[in-house]
Amino acid sequence: MSKPTVPELTQSPAWRALAAHRTRVAHGSISELFADDPDRVAHFSLEAAGLYVDYSKNLVTAETLELLCALARDMGVEERRRAMFAGERINTTENRPVLHVALRERSAMPIPVDGKDVVPEVSAVLEKMRRFTDAVREGTWRGYTGRAITDVVNIGIGGSDLGPRMVCEALKPYAHEALTMHFVSNVDGADIAEVLRSVDPETTLFVVASKTFTTRETLVNAQTARAWLLASGAPETAVAKHFVAVSTHAEAVAAFGIDTDNMFEFWDWVGGRYSLWSAIGLPIALAIGMDGFEAMLGGAHAMDRHFFEAPLAHNLPVLLALIGIWHINFFGATSHLIAPYDRYLHRLPAYLQQLDMESNGKSVTLEGERVDYATGPVIWGEPGTNGQHAFFQLLHQGTALIPADFIVCMQPHHALDAHHEILLANCFAQSEALMNGSPAANEPHRNFDGNRPTNTICLDKLDPASLGALLALYEHKVFVQGTIWNINSFDQWGVELGKRLAVTIEGEVAQPGSELAHDGSTNGLIGRFRERRKQPAASANHRVN
Ligand code: F6P
Repeated sequence: MSKPTVPELTQSPAWRALAAHRTRVAHGSISELFADDPDRVAHFSLEAAGLYVDYSKNLVTAETLELLCALARDMGVEERRRAMFAGERINTTENRPVLHVALRERSAMPIPVDGKDVVPEVSAVLEKMRRFTDAVREGTWRGYTGRAITDVVNIGIGGSDLGPRMVCEALKPYAHEALTMHFVSNVDGADIAEVLRSVDPETTLFVVASKTFTTRETLVNAQTARAWLLASGAPETAVAKHFVAVSTHAEAVAAFGIDTDNMFEFWDWVGGRYSLWSAIGLPIALAIGMDGFEAMLGGAHAMDRHFFEAPLAHNLPVLLALIGIWHINFFGATSHLIAPYDRYLHRLPAYLQQLDMESNGKSVTLEGERVDYATGPVIWGEPGTNGQHAFFQLLHQGTALIPADFIVCMQPHHALDAHHEILLANCFAQSEALMNGSPAANEPHRNFDGNRPTNTICLDKLDPASLGALLALYEHKVFVQGTIWNINSFDQWGVELGKRLAVTIEGEVAQPGSELAHDGSTNGLIGRFRERRKQPAASANHRVN
């Protein structure tokens, strides 16, 4: 793919115009913008793919958005969007196309990778997932003693964990009642030990999920699970009934001892953090059924079409990305709060941390030059109203500017209407308070400056389609920001160094006599671990799993 020439970001005319514009608007306030234009919300809100987004509570005017859209055009957002959907190799450091959108392409439109249409392969895997998940859910796929599966344990980490885990939580009201989903990700033995204590080897299915099938944590956990099954008295042949794999790497799956008939394939053009739409979503399909899984793909596809077709100024992912750029690059925001006012979305902030921070936590451009502007923010959050009683103090009166996304669902999954009214009242009150503030000249500790920006994203109901659309909205937002920052949002070289060093240290802690050649601190920590790991625990009554 030949990369179109884009200007250096901070030298682009739109960037300069935005810098000048910032000095003008910074004197004003969001509440003044509402006073000037009572119809403001109609001009600064948008509905697409079933989501309604109110972005009026930001310090942006029509001119701000025009300039931001000009910046997006200058930086080639439209061209790069076209290139992504066309399957060009926009992940340049790994020389790969980026085609999670192909996983939710619901028409028969061909999507070629290296001249070969990938849509038939995608459909074949979806079909295989349907046969398998139907069999497990209907109780015809049985454990080695003939009992139906009651528990599914997904073993995977990062993109092979966070997406399925978050969606299974989010869509619990749609889940099969006789199947309990568990997720083991951490190499911390406590993670798998706690799960294994709660399940029965005869009725448990393990899904070993790893794009590369080389991830240390996942392979160690999978070995432990296998050993546990066999130690329970199950014969070797039971492994085929109790283990399936999801991977791009058939040989590694076979080498681990899982029959490749029990493997669900995906492809290297699906990034780990963009993979929940692929067979990595198997736990989702097991929990809510294949129809539900396909409804989620449909919701994401509706957002893909909107993102692909809508002009920049009326394009939800683009607008959220641009408002984010405005805060990060022109107001110095370094973090972004995700506050779902919905308990079922409690894992969404963790999922978005990987999506956003692993994608845009970069400091070199596509040309390999160090950037001279800020890139991806810290993403964090907790569901409301809990967050209100913990960290919202800092949002209201702290010194940092922290833009926030509030996410609400108009209809709950329970009949406790009074609770839902209180919940949504709190959400709306928080964004109102953050924007308007409340002056208290004589009591500085009671003063609220206000002028703190928020978006409110509204779903009618949290269901597979609306969740799919919400996740695709964030994926494309991250893509647009990465494009403007001229970084590669699709690699993750920053995770490699720590992995490599851990392998060395792992050998050293296993061999107590070996020489240590790290810095003083690291040598000291390894030495302390070697020395003290076998000492009697201070608390005698702890459980040993
Ligand atoms: O270490 C980071 C990472 O490569 C993520 O990008 C990925 O989602 C995760 O590890 C798990 O990788 P895999 O699916 O290959 O086990």
